[in-house]
Amino acid sequence: MDSYKTFEYDVLVIGAGGAGLRASIEASAAGISVGLVCKSLLGKAHTVMAEGGIAAALSNVDDRDDWKTHFADTMRGGQYVNNYRMAELHAQEAPERVHELEAWGAVFDRTGDQKILQRNFGGHKYPRLAHVGDRTGLEMIRTLQDHGIHQGIDVHMECTIIRLLKEGDRVTAAFGYDRERGKFRLFKARAIVLATGGYGRAYKITSNSWEYTGDGHSLAYDAGADLIDMEYLQFHPTGMVWPPSVRGILVTEGVRGEGGVLRNSEGNRFMFDDIPDLYKDQTADNPEEGWIYTQGDKEARRPPELLTRDHVARCIIREIREGRGSPHGGVFLDIAWIREKLPNAPEHIKRKLPSMYHQFKELANLDITEEPMEVGPTTHYAMGGIRVDGDTQMSTVQGLFAAGECAGGMHGANRLGGNSLSDLLVFGKRAGEYAAEFAKENGATGVDDSAIADTIQWALAPIERQEAEGSGESPYQIQYDLQDTMQELVGIVRTQEEMDQAVEKIAALKQRADQAAAPGNREFYPGWDTALDLHNLLTISEAVARAAARRQESRGAHFREDYPDKDEEWGKTSLVVKKGGDGTMEVSREPVMDIPAELQAIIEENR
Ligand code: FUM
Repeated sequence: MDSYKTFEYDVLVIGAGGAGLRASIEASAAGISVGLVCKSLLGKAHTVMAEGGIAAALSNVDDRDDWKTHFADTMRGGQYVNNYRMAELHAQEAPERVHELEAWGAVFDRTGDQKILQRNFGGHKYPRLAHVGDRTGLEMIRTLQDHGIHQGIDVHMECTIIRLLKEGDRVTAAFGYDRERGKFRLFKARAIVLATGGYGRAYKITSNSWEYTGDGHSLAYDAGADLIDMEYLQFHPTGMVWPPSVRGILVTEGVRGEGGVLRNSEGNRFMFDDIPDLYKDQTADNPEEGWIYTQGDKEARRPPELLTRDHVARCIIREIREGRGSPHGGVFLDIAWIREKLPNAPEHIKRKLPSMYHQFKELANLDITEEPMEVGPTTHYAMGGIRVDGDTQMSTVQGLFAAGECAGGMHGANRLGGNSLSDLLVFGKRAGEYAAEFAKENGATGVDDSAIADTIQWALAPIERQEAEGSGESPYQIQYDLQDTMQELVGIVRTQEEMDQAVEKIAALKQRADQAAAPGNREFYPGWDTALDLHNLLTISEAVARAAARRQESRGAHFREDYPDKDEEWGKTSLVVKKGGDGTMEVSREPVMDIPAELQAIIEENR
């Protein structure tokens, strides 16, 4: 058997974005040993792609804001199928987490009276997003990293975990390899926190970078944990569409928050053409003014470009499909128009949106202070994930916790922009705290040697297959075909026929992946990495396709052409994906959690 190096911690955190770093800091503060594994270099995480801000009811710009309104906005954005307890804790605790981040050194833009400045974002009733230009996620990671490295956390960079090991019902270890040397590593732990982010790399057009292959989702599923809400996947309305090499890169919602408008090829602000029912009675009498009103409150006016992301993305697709798109298959996003209103508009845009200015200048040779951008939807964020307890973040497997994007429930059918950064802090902290508590209360356990031997054999198989002799296929081709399948058949607009076809295609791709060959050395070998990532990508794609095929209604980010309306009965249902005894995937319906009367009253007051 191949050798491996063993490490032992009280708490092991897998994933070093915002949630993983915050969990590690909290667990470490409990005075126990903490290991932190990151697939990439420390600090390189999808957290930086939440550019426009962190949502928290600080009430700095509008003093009518409070946690109750934030809670109600989050539930409405999620179409009321959220884990209400997570949405409640999130809204209550986000302000404290932001202030804590500031105390740890995060720099935010300021109001005139030196408070943290907050900007408008889709679905939030009041200006709620604390931000630093359009680099908020980056500032958050920088701060957590600077703070975290002084806490005695043991960091393992460029290390991929490929299996969780269990004793009975309890998780006891994680097994993986360091990509630099290709050597195996065993991490024994009393508790494990998964914070691995999403699975955007299952799609062709995505804001996610190469690391986001659904590792945590798939590791948890294989270990017997339930997945929830997998049919809900967020397509951010605005990604770059041109040039082709940068297609999918995020164009922050902050552009629309700062006054950017969407237009079609006829120059029309098409977002006025379809105001969803939840907002319909709040439409301004005079749309030319450029505003709709949220929740009947004329003081809290919004442009329709700041309706929720699921809706904006669908409106963009409609314009493109009906032939009113931009030359490269998107629509126009125009911030340059504010020159009509603001004498120093170019400087203002460069100050508020410095990254967007440079991104378009460098990558598309376009000056956003002068010309409109071309944008289109890009796969951005998984609402679905590992089912967790709202308070502790423990999954349905003992000792296994999850936080951030890989955990499901908090955002329901659609996430509001900016709620991810606050989610990472609130639930990263909680996961770290409760994992540490679990580790203190539960002694060390053993590790099953035969499971390690199986894992090593499985992991080395692609290296041992000989592509040249025809006994294996390139893993890149299989990933490419999967991305094509998911993009075309389980995308923004879905039908039963297409999703059934996707399930069949994924089954065939799984068979091909079992024969993937990556002959060569083990050191820094992306072919081998891809061959191993395929297992996660395929598992998660199957879960998304099966859950989406099952939900016969349209809700939030899950839109079906064959069932275009919301169905009250389906609205009472969560879909849970489980691994059956025979290893096959099962999707079952469960009632959504009953919302307690006092929280229901808050929702009603804010409708
Ligand atoms: O558009 C953005 O800046 C992304 C924010 C988010 O996903 O929360």
